[in-house]
Amino acid sequence: MKATATAPANIAFIKYWGKKDEKLRLPETGSISMSLDKCLTTTTVEFADSHKADSFVLDREIVVGKEAARVFKQLDRLRSLAGSTSKAKVVSQNNFPKGTGIASSASGFAALTVATASALGLVLSEKELSIYARLGSGSACRSIPEGIVEWLEGDSNETSYAHSLYPVDYWNLRDVLAIVSSSEKKVGSSRGHTLGKKSIFHEARVKAVYKLILQIKEAIKDKDIHKMGEILEADCIYMHAVMMSSTPALFYWNAGTMNVIHKTIELRGQGIPVYFTIDAGPNVHLITEEKYVEQVSTAISKIQGVQSTIINKPAKGARITENHLF
Ligand code: PMV
Repeated sequence: MKATATAPANIAFIKYWGKKDEKLRLPETGSISMSLDKCLTTTTVEFADSHKADSFVLDREIVVGKEAARVFKQLDRLRSLAGSTSKAKVVSQNNFPKGTGIASSASGFAALTVATASALGLVLSEKELSIYARLGSGSACRSIPEGIVEWLEGDSNETSYAHSLYPVDYWNLRDVLAIVSSSEKKVGSSRGHTLGKKSIFHEARVKAVYKLILQIKEAIKDKDIHKMGEILEADCIYMHAVMMSSTPALFYWNAGTMNVIHKTIELRGQGIPVYFTIDAGPNVHLITEEKYVEQVSTAISKIQGVQSTIINKPAKGARITENHLF
């Protein structure tokens, strides 16, 4: 059986950084994100007796080693649920550069989970798909539902999953993504989550996040861009303070990142409601409303170090498509 799924990346407004259970990928706090309609992964999975071993092709290149093993482990989880022993061919295509802080593991594991479940004939609820996606890569659980999404931290495998707070058309939010680098990051987030625990700021951030989640949910309910922006920018800075004070220290920003941050603050001084947030990479996501997109992207495109911009709207969740990659 063959199936194909497409899933969006997501940008966290309140971040997931630190695990309380490594194996189950239970986060130390909940998190809130928006799914991104222009940053997509499409994955085709085929189970057949003619496949003698699992194989994985990403962006037209055969993947081996640890990265492939993580994908095959995800196949195993769903195979064991379906009682199958068939081997699979997995082909995956991103429409954005990999390893740049656009969460390719999130869209990747969400698409992989949905396509694999379908190829195995499993009928899973959105909650179940989110749980399985989380086991593959934490933030992938937030790429299953649509729009603005909350990951409930939970305290067991069954209670840690993401659900949609608001659908795609709830609010004309935009993410103007400034690409300042498209090269691979050196330390991936899986390892970063663990290194961060040694930061003296880690515990303080975890404590703060509980309050930030309540506050940002209020701001989203009120469609208050200023309040929401201040909160998401604060948590981005808190998370990067944890990263920079890890052992060894993790510096994900580059000069272009700083230039975009300064410009964002300048634009705000001119009355434009725009706020920055950055994941585990140098690229900067500028959160604003539709009516300011033109001004923001024009100003940002002129900055030294900015290679391109991608303008994202809130996206639909992970879904099956008929456009197979092979
Ligand atoms: O799911 P992971 O292990 O790739 O972690 C994602 C971490 C951040 O992108 C930095 C934050 C987040 O919540 O997406």
